[in-house]
Amino acid sequence: METVNGYRRRWWKEAVVYQIYPRSFMDSDGDGIGDLRGILQKLAHIQGLGVDVIWLSPHFDSPNADNGYDIRDYRQVMAEFGTMADFDALLAAVHEAGMRLIIDLVVNHTSDEHAWFVESRKGPDNPYRDYYIWRPGHGDQPPNNWPSIFTGPAWTRDDENWYLHLFAEKQPDLNWDNPKVRGEVHDLMRFWLDKGIDGFRMDVIPFISKDPALPDMTPDELRRPQDVYANGPHVHDYLQEMHRDVLAHYDVMTVGEAFGVSLERTPDLVDERRGELDMVFQFDAVDIDRAPGGQWKPWRLQDFKAIFTRHDGALDRHGWPTVFLSNHDNPRIVSRYGDDSPTWRETSAMLFATLLMTMKGTPFLYQGDELGLTNYPFERVEQFDDVWVKNAWQSGGVDEAAFVANQNRVSRDHARIPMAWSDSPNGGFTTGRPWFLIHPDAGRINAATQGAVYDHFARLIAHRHAHLSLIYGDYRDLAPDHPQVFAYERSMPGERHLIVLNMSGEEVAFDVPEGAWAVGNYDAPSPLLRGWEARVYRVD
Ligand code: GLC
Repeated sequence: METVNGYRRRWWKEAVVYQIYPRSFMDSDGDGIGDLRGILQKLAHIQGLGVDVIWLSPHFDSPNADNGYDIRDYRQVMAEFGTMADFDALLAAVHEAGMRLIIDLVVNHTSDEHAWFVESRKGPDNPYRDYYIWRPGHGDQPPNNWPSIFTGPAWTRDDENWYLHLFAEKQPDLNWDNPKVRGEVHDLMRFWLDKGIDGFRMDVIPFISKDPALPDMTPDELRRPQDVYANGPHVHDYLQEMHRDVLAHYDVMTVGEAFGVSLERTPDLVDERRGELDMVFQFDAVDIDRAPGGQWKPWRLQDFKAIFTRHDGALDRHGWPTVFLSNHDNPRIVSRYGDDSPTWRETSAMLFATLLMTMKGTPFLYQGDELGLTNYPFERVEQFDDVWVKNAWQSGGVDEAAFVANQNRVSRDHARIPMAWSDSPNGGFTTGRPWFLIHPDAGRINAATQGAVYDHFARLIAHRHAHLSLIYGDYRDLAPDHPQVFAYERSMPGERHLIVLNMSGEEVAFDVPEGAWAVGNYDAPSPLLRGWEARVYRVD
């Protein structure tokens, strides 16, 4: 096996991934909801960026309590998104275009409308009872004090017993301690793998194993319940079994959502000698502005930078990281980490493109990042769609203005606003009535006008693909204490890059070396770094 700088070469280490949230990408049939044929229509837009892999958020049959993360039938396509023939056509077209397609494996829980749960809730004697986690309560009280990630208790009562749901009430958790459940999951994975998909993003995968004693959480644990949920006793056993029985037989990539997994525990999930996952998403960078309970809090650049050094130190040559700053669960990058004012929006969007494409790890970008899309200016609670926002609002305790102000910082709905394609009505997303709000700037900030940001992404992706040091090179932060500049190198014998990012709108003096300036977001070089300036130097 060929190695570079001590790493085994693998296609997914060298890939750039583009995430699609199908509901909000492109509507082809005027029903107001994005669909698979819409993606097909826009494939050239994705291919033009030079990305290698498309990750499709759930496209399965679902009653949409959590926009498809609640699956009713793993072998059917969501009717609003099209048919199985449309899926097959999309997969073929993606392959034809020289890209790969990975899908979302959501198997910590199903929908409560899944046939297994419909059976399971019929009573203790039903053969599917043990597919889920049922316990008696304590009188009127649930079996333990576990909270749902989406607020409220993680238990719902059904007749005499309660079922566990770490997310919404309509998302009952599967009982992975039952070997039949694991067998069913392996079967449905094979169903999609045999169609030719190229891998899986695995939703909250560390949550699959629960402590069978289901002990109450301590007050401290209740502040970060995900840390308890991600620490069950058998997660590694179940992942190794899945790898042995299923994944090892295909040339695919896997990336697990490591919500709640500490950095110390990450190597065990991704060490290639163990046969579990290829990569995971670590949450530190997207948690940087979160206080316990989901409140927004300010953050410092020094702390942001330290995350990348820590991550780099956590893995050796047998593990491989990911880089992401956005997805369907997070606000928009420019509004959150950059500056979305008219002066700096494009420039700061390009700076974060630079960071993503020069950092160590497989980069994941989310639809609209390549256009520098911004957060939606929500004004009222009723404008939100997310079940999490609705549950949080119902739990009470704050007035609407304060609640909406916080959600404007943290809400997942910012990312779920439909894509903006042109200055046509509804940003060209649909000819019908859109399922969700259209951004007030869609007529101005859309794929037709944002060529500069898009082209910058494409240039960076091409540069990354052409330079192995940007993929396999060692990472070193050169100015960890600098309050405005993020400067780092990526180096390996024979090839070195220096990346200098001014993470502010102010001009700043920073010592830059002589050397070829490879990619930047300003036209001509200048001695001072200008506002949100990003430079990539080739310095070997
Ligand atoms: C993951 C998904 C999120 C979903 C949750 C429950 O965190 O990314 O969108 O709501 O799991 O499936």
